[in-house]
Amino acid sequence: MRTEVAIIGAGPAGLLLSHLLAQDGIESVVVEIRSAEYVASRIRAGVLEHSTVELLESVGLGERLRREGDEHRGIHLQWPEERHHIDFVDLTDRSVWIYGQTEVQKDLVAARASAGQEIHYEVTDTALHDLDTERPYVTFTDVDGVAQRLDADVVVGCDGSFGPSRGAVPDSVKQSWERVYPYSWLGILADVAPSTDELIYAWHPDGFAMHSMRSSTVSRLYLQVPNGTDVADWSDERIWDGLATRLGHGQDGWQLNPGPITEKSVLPMRSFVQTPMRHGRLFLAGDAAHIVPPTGAKGLNLAVADVAMLAPALAALLRKKDPTLADSYSDDALRRVWRCTHFSWWMTTMLHTSDDPFDAQLQLSQLRWVTSSEAGAAGLAENYAGLPIGF
Ligand code: FAD
Ligand code: DHB
Repeated sequence: MRTEVAIIGAGPAGLLLSHLLAQDGIESVVVEIRSAEYVASRIRAGVLEHSTVELLESVGLGERLRREGDEHRGIHLQWPEERHHIDFVDLTDRSVWIYGQTEVQKDLVAARASAGQEIHYEVTDTALHDLDTERPYVTFTDVDGVAQRLDADVVVGCDGSFGPSRGAVPDSVKQSWERVYPYSWLGILADVAPSTDELIYAWHPDGFAMHSMRSSTVSRLYLQVPNGTDVADWSDERIWDGLATRLGHGQDGWQLNPGPITEKSVLPMRSFVQTPMRHGRLFLAGDAAHIVPPTGAKGLNLAVADVAMLAPALAALLRKKDPTLADSYSDDALRRVWRCTHFSWWMTTMLHTSDDPFDAQLQLSQLRWVTSSEAGAAGLAENYAGLPIGF
């Protein structure tokens, strides 16, 4: 097989890249290790930044998002006895939208299917070759067990944190940074109307908790738990009790409404960045190059921002033989990656409790400042609602 751009991974980064490239008349083939159903049903992110929404809309992917998504002006930040709203629209004139990654994925799959995009699902043995040359290629075994070779001008690794692309950059070239946090999130989906209009991020001596949502009838909630937690140790009752305490049930008359839990899982948390995001004819985008802890809701948005920068760079490289944007892609993307890495670390360390009472006092001081100073609130708002792509 031959194509212009071989894309590894059919998550949001891979499918959006194929969509953006197609708009520039560039052909791509996507290979994905999982089934289409599996990829579409993975419960992950839920918050879209202002620029993500604008981008999706500008490329014909915003119709259902605008209809079924929910625009939020800001978030609630709280600690025992206090809840404060940070209004992003007042502070930065930018909002966020609640629209699950599952829905973004469905919209991408539908758009690519109607355009006749070639996607090979359920492949095995994906391997990258000759990335230092102008004729790189990818090999894999297709769903029928047939060995395939895909020749391309460029290979893009959109294969998340466990794919082979990141490892294809030679050790002599790559550098990485990692921070593993001493806690995880226990996340649930519940068939109950959200008990809040906008997301609540709560600091509590028992640990962080968050109330998010997916629709007017589905709530998404998280609890900080120790690393190594087994979901089996958390009955539905224990989860709702923990959430009620940490989110302040009864505080100023506010009530948390429990309901049937339909999904429960534990997510470890880490920050990771690998540079450069380009090596020869290989480009990395999304979780393949960087991971953030989920507290700032940045993972999916960063993947979108990467491919929004990469698509025009590849179009210039392949159509006009102009390498300028491709050459600066890694540095350009990493500016935002490090900004979001810092913001996600900052939100995480401000809100998750440790056993250190000194840390707790610093966290509470920081929370009081962010919620009482316009400068403090604006800093959070600008980062959360997201900087413009290419800032
Ligand atoms: P992915 O979505 O991971 O897509 C990569 C694709 O590559 C996958 O489909 C994978 O199957 C495929 N692949 C892997 N290996 C191969 C191979 N060998 N060959 C071919 N294909 C391969 N972000 C938030 O903002 N908020 C959240 O609440 C949140 N929750 C998360 C929960 C979990 C469990 C995880 C893992 C991530 C979560 N994230 C969250 C992060 C967010 O979902 C990711 O940042 C986002 O999915 C990145 O998109 P991506 O396309 O780069 O990577
Ligand atoms: C969700 C996840 C996040 O990490 C976050 O910061 C906000 C919302 C969510 O799953 O809805």
